[in-house]
Amino acid sequence: MQCLAGYSLSKSYIDSDQSIQVLTDATLEVNEADLICITGQSGCGKSTMLHILGLLDAPDAGRVLIRGKEINSVMSEAPRIRNSEIGFVFQFHYLVEDLTAKENVALPMIIAGYSSSIASRHAIELLAKLGLADRQNRYPNQLSGGEQQRVSLARALINNPAIVLADEPTGNLDPKHSTEVWEMILSLNKERGQAFVVVTHDHESAKLATMTYNLANGRLSLMHSDNKSPRSS
Ligand SMILES: Nc1ncnc2c1ncn2[C@@H]1O[C@H](COP(=O)(O)OP(=O)(O)OP(=O)(O)O)[C@@H](O)[C@H]1O
Ligand SMILES: [Mg+2]
Repeated sequence: MQCLAGYSLSKSYIDSDQSIQVLTDATLEVNEADLICITGQSGCGKSTMLHILGLLDAPDAGRVLIRGKEINSVMSEAPRIRNSEIGFVFQFHYLVEDLTAKENVALPMIIAGYSSSIASRHAIELLAKLGLADRQNRYPNQLSGGEQQRVSLARALINNPAIVLADEPTGNLDPKHSTEVWEMILSLNKERGQAFVVVTHDHESAKLATMTYNLANGRLSLMHSDNKSPRSS
């Protein structure tokens, strides 16, 4: 099984002259075909951690290895690696307001160098898979929160990244659409071997994961694993 990413992370924030330690040498390894869920109380640092995993933020100390290569998230190569290897579904979806759903989904593929007609065709296919075929020409403010969430998922998937990081991707969805999103995650994970790291409060869905970690006091603890030998602390 190929190791896609390895992390050991420490991170603190300064708040009114006080330093808040959010991550304390939290370690995680992501292998091909892993479906990792991360749970933890509000404010424990899950989004902070996911942003660092996605090269959107830098740790204060520690290492980020992507395919064995140490990556510094502030270096010039980070955006290219992020666009090609990593798909990111944000907790609060961050769609571009003046682009339609289809254009939002197509954007990472155009940035990767594909023509807009090829990117558009892929975007339409993905939106259809997520039940949004008739919403492709709408702008984000014409979509419900759950629809925006699914557009975000399509945008994260379009470049077929090795790792998809998703911060509460079903947080705004009703049970039916939540089940559909989980089914899509499970099938991509099984069929393509795509790795997922999903932050979720949904303990039922977390049971579908190959590994579930709980984040508390800055560290990850393994709660459940299909694999008998835990790989991280
Ligand atoms: N830019 C920042 N400056 C200062 N403190 C921050 C900053 N971003 C986050 N924090 C603090 O760091 C801690 C972790 O925040 P984070 O957003 O990672 O939590 P979370 O586990 O994702 O929470 P939730 O489940 O509510 O989304 C919180 O106490 C938060 O207030
Ligand atoms: Mg969060």
